[in-house]
Amino acid sequence: MTFRTLPKVELHLHIEGAAPPRLIADLAKQKSVDIAGVFDERGNYAFRDFLHFLKVYEAATQVLQTPEDYRRLTLAVLEESASHGVVYTEAFLSPDFCGGGDVSAWREYLHAMREAADQAERDIGITLRGIVTCVRHFGPEQAKRSARCAAETADDWLCGFGMGGDENAGEQGDFAYAFDMAREAGLRLTTHAGEWRGPEEVRAAVRDLKVERIGHGVRVIEDPALCEELAEAGVVLEVCPGSNVVLGVYPKLAAHPIEKLRERGLQVTVSTDDPPFFHTDMTKEYEGLARVFEWNEDDFMALNQTALAAAFCDDATRKRIAKKLETA
Ligand code: ADE
Ligand code: ZN
Repeated sequence: MTFRTLPKVELHLHIEGAAPPRLIADLAKQKSVDIAGVFDERGNYAFRDFLHFLKVYEAATQVLQTPEDYRRLTLAVLEESASHGVVYTEAFLSPDFCGGGDVSAWREYLHAMREAADQAERDIGITLRGIVTCVRHFGPEQAKRSARCAAETADDWLCGFGMGGDENAGEQGDFAYAFDMAREAGLRLTTHAGEWRGPEEVRAAVRDLKVERIGHGVRVIEDPALCEELAEAGVVLEVCPGSNVVLGVYPKLAAHPIEKLRERGLQVTVSTDDPPFFHTDMTKEYEGLARVFEWNEDDFMALNQTALAAAFCDDATRKRIAKKLETA
C-alpha cells in the first residue's frame, strides 16, 4: 500500500529542526550570516553525534531572526508535513530562539506562526498546535523564562509545555518550577527523557515534572516494571524511530524497541523529531515500520487513534481530526 496519503497525526516535531535546508541556506545568504559547517557538500545538515547535532541545530537557527522568518518557516514545515498526509501536528516552539525569552517579543513570533498556521489550515487542510519548549542545557533559569512566555500565551492553540535539549544536563527535577508554572496556566506537559539516559530518567520525569507524555522514552524497555507502571498510568511515548537510528541510540531500525514497547502495553505514537536532519519524513517512518515490523494499515490506524487521543488540543478539534482519520 502507499503510506504517503494515509492521514497521520504527529506529536513530536521541533519547528527549527524541521526547517528545509534550502530555507536556512537562503536566509543565511540574504542576511549574510556565516553558517559554515552547518551543511555538507550536498547541502544536507551535517553532524557527527547528538551533541554536535544540537550545536548544528542552534547554528542553523541563528538565521531565523524575525517573526517574518518564523512565518516562512512555519508555512514551509506545514506544506512538507501535509505532503506526507499529516492532518494534525504539534510543534515544539522555543521562546529561547523567538525573542530570547522576552514575553512581548515572543508574542510577536507566536502571532506570526499562528497566522501561518491559519493560512495552512485554510489552504492545505493541516492543523497545527503549539507546545512551548524549554532547552535543558540552557538551564532552569532560562526555562522559567520560557515557561513564563508559555503561561502568558496559553490557550486552545498554545496548549502544551515541554523540554528538549541535552538529557545529560542537570536533572528533570531542576525544571519543576517551570513545569509547575506551565501546569498552573492550564498547559499539558511532555519532556524528552529516556532517549540518552535510562529508565530512571523517565521515572524522574513522571515523578518530578508530572508529565503525561514522554519525548522518546524508548529506553524504558530496559525496565519491565516501569513499562508496566507507565502502561497502567496511560503515559504516552512520542517515539521517533528514524531520529533514534540516525543519532545512534539504536544501530538500525530492526534493533529499535518500538514493537516490544507496544507488546508491553505502552501507548506508542510515531513522529519525525527533526525530519531533514535525520533524512526522514512521516511516509518513510511508516514504510520502515511496515517493512521491519510488518505493521499494516490496521496498526497505523490504531497508532493514529492513540496519537489523536494523546494530542493536547481541545475536544472540538480532536473530533474534527477524528473525522479526517475515519473517512480515510
Ligand atoms: N531537540 C531537537 N531534537 C532533539 C532530540 N532528539 N533530543 C533532544 N533535544 C532535541
Ligand atoms: Zn525531540
